[in-house]
This record gives sequence, structure tokens and C-alpha cells, in this order.
Amino acid sequence: MTLNCRICKTIVRPFMSFGKMPIANGFLNPDDFPMEYFYELKPIFCENCLTFQIAEQPDPEKMFHENYAFFSRTSKHMVNHFRSYANWVKSEYLSSSDPFVVEIGSNDGAMMENFSKNKIRHLGIEPSANVAKEASKYGVNTLCSFFNLATAKNIVSKDGQADAIIAANVMCHIPGLHDVAKGIDYLLKPMGVVIFEEPYLGDMIENTAYDQIYDEHVYMFSVRSIHNIFKKYGFELIDVKHQTTHGGSMRYVLARNGKRTVSKNVEKQIAYEDDKKLHLSGTYDKFREQCEISRKNLVDTLQQQKRDGKRVVGYAATSKSTTVLNYCGIGPDLIEFISDTTPIKQGKYSPGVHIPVFSYDNLKNNYPDGLLLFAWNHKEEIMAKESSFLKNGGEWITYVPHVALIRK
Ligand code: TYD
Repeated sequence: MTLNCRICKTIVRPFMSFGKMPIANGFLNPDDFPMEYFYELKPIFCENCLTFQIAEQPDPEKMFHENYAFFSRTSKHMVNHFRSYANWVKSEYLSSSDPFVVEIGSNDGAMMENFSKNKIRHLGIEPSANVAKEASKYGVNTLCSFFNLATAKNIVSKDGQADAIIAANVMCHIPGLHDVAKGIDYLLKPMGVVIFEEPYLGDMIENTAYDQIYDEHVYMFSVRSIHNIFKKYGFELIDVKHQTTHGGSMRYVLARNGKRTVSKNVEKQIAYEDDKKLHLSGTYDKFREQCEISRKNLVDTLQQQKRDGKRVVGYAATSKSTTVLNYCGIGPDLIEFISDTTPIKQGKYSPGVHIPVFSYDNLKNNYPDGLLLFAWNHKEEIMAKESSFLKNGGEWITYVPHVALIRK
């Protein structure tokens, strides 16, 4: 079967497969094991428009629904990050007298509350009803819907066009980006800006962070790919800013062609990408080899811990961990349980490999010998919180940028 790029329809070849994969956030009860849904997780790279993507993605309704398990507020660091992101948008781009800001994928309102608190007209668009409901507790206006041209028309008819359309860790989740771009074009004022930040392809390749690839992340963007996707709709990149969040992200700022000054940052980042050969398919063959090495080292390390009679527990049942656990074939024989602070995940089993997920109390009250850090992107926040674990002789196991043990 030929595979085509979702963006430009060029024929592409998969350069690797992570094998059979369940829904990354599909935490489940034993009754659901026999019906668990699997698809093949196969990344592809389009040599024409330079967009890194996955070949097959489950229906969005299977991932974003009234039981969606990801809440933005679970990380204090991210809540702070969204506050400074929102303040930056306000100071840089909201100069009109009564600005209107729309966020695509507003989740539990962690970003939008910073506009609602400041009495700025705002609207969050969020398809998962349970997280959208949480946002209303923070005074955030939310429309429970996927974002597309029809949604944009609906918003404009009620609230008019937007000064800024913003998003964080959302665009990479949306397979139908052409419809999103059409919606943005309809919703945005002539001088408006589109700002979003997403995990960055450059960091993923640099750190062999292959766990950024899972069902929800249908794309991993670079500056070149964003340029290629949006130019068709009359938009140009006017700025880019690298972020440390989510293990390395890029903030993209777009405006209608010729309307705003283009920062030198855009050119500089493109030069970086060319230097790292992100536009060449050979880079992705090397990435596959690095993934295989990482898998072997992680499995060897965990098997050694088991032979040494050590207890190992997973730290945070992240979406990313679903790719690692299933690709490496790591199950309850090697990991006793995964500790996670999200109530909806607790008492359930991890997707595919069925490791039990317990509340943080289970970990805090009975530290194991080893903690496998699945939320490596929140390393600083977690290490600070768990300093007593290392002090008492515990050992962290990490796998990004490479498999390593951290001892006191
Ligand atoms: P994140 O890396 O944002 O997850 P994802 O890969 O799904 O994007 O981490 C969020 C998850 O990590 C969430 O399930 C809560 C959990 N978590 C903890 O259990 N303890 C913590 O201290 C932190 C920061 C996160």
C-alpha cells in the first residue's frame, strides 16, 4: 500500500515501525483488556514538505472524549509557563482596545484563565468534555468542539474575528491541518497573529526522544515544515522562540503575508535545521538506529535490576510512556506499578502492557530501589520534589537523552 504525506500528498516511505500500539492515554480496567484497540505506530518523513508524521492514526474520537486523561494543571511548572506565555501574548500582540483571544485545545483552562482573570475577551475550544468542564471552574469560556472551518464560522458569527489565535501542544495533535488553517484564516483579523508551541522535531532527534511519537502526536514540526504548511494559506512565520517545555518545544508566530516584521530568529532557526540535516531522510534512518540502541539499553538495565532483586516503579503514567513500554516490551514483570497524580488514571492499567497505575501515596509511603522517570520533561520539578529518594539510596533510571542511572 502506498503512503502519502498528509500535508502535500507526496508518496512517502515509512523508515521504521514501533510495532503494535494501543491508545497512549487509554488507561483501562481488566474487563476492557480483550477489546483493547491497537494500531501500528509507523513514523514517516516527507522529503517534499519536510513534515515528520505518523502514517496511521486512530479516530480522534477514540482519543479525545469525555474521559480524556490528560489535564494541563498536573504540572506546576506548566501552569507557570502558561501564565508567562499568556502575559507575553498580551504585552506583544494585544494592543487593540477590546482584544479577543481564542485558544485551540484549551484543555482545563490553564492558559485561558490568565486572560479571563484580566477580563480579556476570550474563548477556549476544547473537544474533551471532562477537561472543558474543569476550565469553567476558572471562569474560562469554553466551546466544547473540535476546531475547523465550521467552528470558526460559528465563533465569528457570535464574537467577531480574533486578534490572536493561540495554542500549546495542540497543533501536532490535529491530522486535518488544512481545515484548521482555513478556520484560522476565517477567524483571524487582518492584522491578527497565530501563536502556538509544540514539541520540536530538532530536540526529538537530538535527544532520541522517540516517546514523543504516539497516536495524539500525528506531527512533529520543524520551522521549515510549519512554513510549508501555512504558506499555502497566505501566512508567514514572523518569529520563532525555542522553549524548554515538554523536552524541547518551539513557539511559532505567524501573521498574514507582509503584515508584520519578520524576526531574524526565523532565518537563524532554519540555518540550525539545515545544519542538523533535518531536511534529509538519512537523518531519520540514523534516528531509527538510535531508537534501537535506546530500547536495548533500557531493557538490559531493567532486567539487571530484576536479577539484582531490586524493586522498580515507574514515575508518571505519561502518554509518552505508552510508546516506550510497548516498543520495548516492558510489562509488570519489570515494573511493579506506575505512580501518577491524575485521579482518572489511578486504579487502572497502562495501555497495552497493563502495568497497574497507583496514586502517588503508594509511592511516597514505600519508596522502591529504582524509579523509572517517564516524565523526563518535568525532571527538575520532580527531582526537587523527590530529593529524599536519592538521599535514601534510591536510583533514578532515565532514557532521554540516553539510558542512564542517577545515584546520589
Ligand atoms: P507529561 O509529560 O505532561 O505527560 P504526557 O506525556 O502525557 O504529555 O506528564 C503529565 C503526567 O505526569 C500526568 O499523568 C501527571 C504525571 N505527573 C506525576 O504523576 N507527578 C509529577 O510530579 C508530574 C510533574 C507529573
